[in-house]
Amino acid sequence: MKKKVSIIGAGNVGATTALLVVQSGIADVVLFDVVEGMPQGKALDLGEACPLWNSSTRIKGTNDYADMADSDIVVITAGFARKPGMSRSDLLHANASVVKNACMKIAEISPHSILIVVTNPMDVMAQLAWKTTEFSCRRVMGMGGILDASRFRSFLAWELNVSPEDVEALVFGGHGDDMVPLPRFTTIKGVPITELLPKKKINALIERTRNGGAEIVSFLKSGSAYYAPAASTFQMLKAILLDEKRILPCAAYLNGEYRMKDVYMGVPVVLGEEGAEKIVEVKLTREEKMQVKRSYASVKKLIKTLNL
Ligand code: APR
Repeated sequence: MKKKVSIIGAGNVGATTALLVVQSGIADVVLFDVVEGMPQGKALDLGEACPLWNSSTRIKGTNDYADMADSDIVVITAGFARKPGMSRSDLLHANASVVKNACMKIAEISPHSILIVVTNPMDVMAQLAWKTTEFSCRRVMGMGGILDASRFRSFLAWELNVSPEDVEALVFGGHGDDMVPLPRFTTIKGVPITELLPKKKINALIERTRNGGAEIVSFLKSGSAYYAPAASTFQMLKAILLDEKRILPCAAYLNGEYRMKDVYMGVPVVLGEEGAEKIVEVKLTREEKMQVKRSYASVKKLIKTLNL
């Protein structure tokens, strides 16, 4: 039997993530939303593409939580997306109640599942999901760092006219305006970008990465990015479903690692069948530590607002 992936929120990110899972054939999918008929229609459409993708995935669209019972992985994308001029943290209160309600249901019907939180502001929503479900922190994580790193990798590849797959990047911190892309750990086929580009150019690309989500929102006007967010979520799903033990930047619970306590934030994590199996600790310089601390303070501030 295939593993079961449930996706809460069948909007742009949720449905695109479902598409990637169905296309890959690596798990069965339940697509849930509160809007009647919409997840059913999208699931039917995706199911009808299976013969073309040689996929044997079964997909069901639903408005009934019971259909998500005994899921192996639950992805939370439910909630509101940004509009122009909004930061991710502006979504805090509206999305907190959506995520909290979803998590209470998940804890009841899929108590052994692994949770991937995508809804923004993601680090705080991951903390809320962990507190609400009372799952082990290894089984609750957030998607952000892979997306931020992918944006940084793309900008670097375009700048240097090389293939994006030859660019590796590491982004630390919260998935917010003060995320911390780290040039020292960003390489083109193993060569640090600090040896290939002037500092001014690197800083400009870091700034573009920090504003990467907002740049897309300003074009779309009525929604936020979803292709790259869904591709990033799929990378996490694949690493867990196939027990790949990949090292990926994800929001994980820190309890002393990097000298930070009781907070979900982006760090390199080994992802496998148990979830966030290990937090990888790398040595940071003083300046890098200061930047990460600044991001930590922003996430902590939001956590405090929700009394978590
Ligand atoms: N339960 C289930 N689904 C819900 C609920 C709920 N309580 N409340 C809202 N939804 C659904 C909406 O009906 C909608 O279909 O969540 C979906 C959100 O989809 P979009 O509006 O298309 O937003 P999307 O672009 O997918 O972003 C979702 O992910 O990247 C983050 O910032 C983004 O927080 C946002 C989330």
